[in-house]
Amino acid sequence: MVGPEDIECLKRIALRGGLPGPVFLNSQTLGDELGISPQTASRRLKSLEQQNMIRRTLIADGQQVSVSEEGESSLRQEYCDYYRLFGGKGRNFSLEGTVESGLGEGAYYMSLPQYMQQFEQILGFAPYPGTLNLRLSQVAVQRRKRLTLADWYQVAGFESEGRTFGQVRCLPCMIGDIPCGIVVPGRSHYPDALVEIIAPVGLRRELHLNDGQEVVIEVSI
Ligand code: CDP
Repeated sequence: MVGPEDIECLKRIALRGGLPGPVFLNSQTLGDELGISPQTASRRLKSLEQQNMIRRTLIADGQQVSVSEEGESSLRQEYCDYYRLFGGKGRNFSLEGTVESGLGEGAYYMSLPQYMQQFEQILGFAPYPGTLNLRLSQVAVQRRKRLTLADWYQVAGFESEGRTFGQVRCLPCMIGDIPCGIVVPGRSHYPDALVEIIAPVGLRRELHLNDGQEVVIEVSI
């Protein structure tokens, strides 16, 4: 049975170049890379050899090691597991929140052409001038934290009429079949629980939304 330490060691050998053919290794450097003693590294190599996971030839100061077909198959199994977690079409998140009114600043910022044009390039639509504020549910706030790992688009800040407008991050999302974007001001003091949504249409009117009504945003990262 291939244990987690074996897999870790096998992966290290493969990363050192041991998949296509033999690579020179000694227990000292392998041990350093795995954070274990040279003796333990040497035992791991022996164990991998006994399990037919690697082939090796002892030479002066070390050994030539290659990952065997069985070894590669075990690594591929690991890869499949990670692929299921992170590969393919990405992970889908649903974030539910309730509509809330803000201070009416969104309309002002969103109507500035310098922002507007960048959003249009990123999202493929000219945004309706304003942001729909959503107060996320407790569960959605937890899920929202994961989105910090996503590849957010950067909307550059600019200067206009002696004022500085900060950079903004933007992440595409969907509300039903309407393509939208989550926007987060660069130096935002908003708590995580509030998200601002931009869309090609007035969402209140399109979806008949009033304050307190629930909306679900779908994000794929
Ligand atoms: O500050 P607040 O979010 O209330 O307003 P705003 O960002 O200036 O947006 C003006 C109004 O349009 C607000 O009532 C928003 O909820 C609404 N809105 C909308 O219906 N659809 C959008 N895509 C953006 C904003």
